[in-house]
Amino acid sequence: MAAVDALSFDPWDPAFVSDPYPAYAELRERGRVIYYEPTDQWLVPRHADVSALLRERRLGRTYQHRFTHEDFGRTAPPAEQEPFHTLNDHGMLDLEPPDHTRIRRLVSKAFTPRTVERLKPYVRQLAGELVDRLVEAGGGDLLSDVAEPLPVAVIAEMLGIPDSDRAPLRPWSADICGMYELSPSKETAARAVRASVEFSEYLRELIAARRKEPGDDLISGLIAAHDEGDRLTEQEMISTAVLLLNAGHEATVNATVNGWWALFRNPEQLAALRADHTLVPSAVEELMRYDTPLQLFERWVLDDIEIDGTTVPRGAEIAMLFGSANHDPAVFAAPDRLDLTRAENPHISFSAGIHYCIGAPLARIELAASMTALLERAPTLALAAEPRRKPNFVIRGLEGLNVTL
Ligand code: HEM
Repeated sequence: MAAVDALSFDPWDPAFVSDPYPAYAELRERGRVIYYEPTDQWLVPRHADVSALLRERRLGRTYQHRFTHEDFGRTAPPAEQEPFHTLNDHGMLDLEPPDHTRIRRLVSKAFTPRTVERLKPYVRQLAGELVDRLVEAGGGDLLSDVAEPLPVAVIAEMLGIPDSDRAPLRPWSADICGMYELSPSKETAARAVRASVEFSEYLRELIAARRKEPGDDLISGLIAAHDEGDRLTEQEMISTAVLLLNAGHEATVNATVNGWWALFRNPEQLAALRADHTLVPSAVEELMRYDTPLQLFERWVLDDIEIDGTTVPRGAEIAMLFGSANHDPAVFAAPDRLDLTRAENPHISFSAGIHYCIGAPLARIELAASMTALLERAPTLALAAEPRRKPNFVIRGLEGLNVTL
């Protein structure tokens, strides 16, 4: 086991957040598992370990299917945060089998590669329209003009959220996602609680309306599954919808703008891509590896586990550093170089194991659609101003990305 000094890994230091990759290199050198006192977590920085631990059944996204908070040596979250935790804890991402298996099986029908493939024409058309508008305006903010509206519209459409109801989705999602950062503040928690209450209330009403008048959307599908076999409680339905709406756009928005910023910083790579649009699929993968949109995921240790001679005990928390795994030289040649032609690219950005991103095929279609539309319809797209990074570490993004033509 190695210890971390204050210099290398500091998620609250803007310099680290702006470029965490050198600190990761140091962590990977230090060892396979490193206790980090400020968050009381065990950091895992290497690709082989992250990949193996994501498939490890002695770890879990939750422990509540097996232990009470007390038995697990943890305290229950404060009572005032209950609406957030009720919402969060009933989504499949925070469940383990058998509940996870039951809900994932139902939802995955809507996300098979074949089903998602059918969305392609709609996604491409929407991406084209958004980029046309950006071009007509002579430029704008790539984040708010293209990166954000595309995945929000797609997932809202899939779930059957009417156009007129979509405005609060982004702020609700942003407020809830604040809780996924390390050690969120009381204000962050209060915002997440408010958003959880409002979002849940909205969906409860929408579910009631769809129950009376079903459509061919995913919410109507979940209601049918619920009514047929009572396989999904109403809370699970609400939590599933919120999870899909939030997970369905947050990372895609950030992957789009992180990706384009990386392209602007690597003009020879951008030029190669402009010269050969068949590089789009490998470019999407490489950009997700190069500047990983979700930097860290946690797991609880449900039964003692030994990593490299160190026993990490039951009740401990492991923080897997996805951004570090994606820059591990043991797996990626010249990992800090952006190489859009990289052929072997087993990046971990969509996770692995039972929680592997259910939306990965859709995310890939969305990212390719916006990239292709921008390459074809805005071939002279250029950075208008240096963007500012969001201060968040876990969900890595930009405040905006101003572009010109
Ligand atoms: C670039 C875009 C995306 C990235 C990088 C991403 C990444 C991830 C990761 C890393 C996980 C697993 C976390 C863990 O193992 O603890 C995950 C799970 C999930 N993602 Fe995505 N995601 C993206 C887009 C999407 C989209 C478009 C959707 C839905 C439309 C979606 C829905 C989900 C859901 C429902 C889960 C939970 C799966 C489960 O627990 O079984 N994601 N995603």
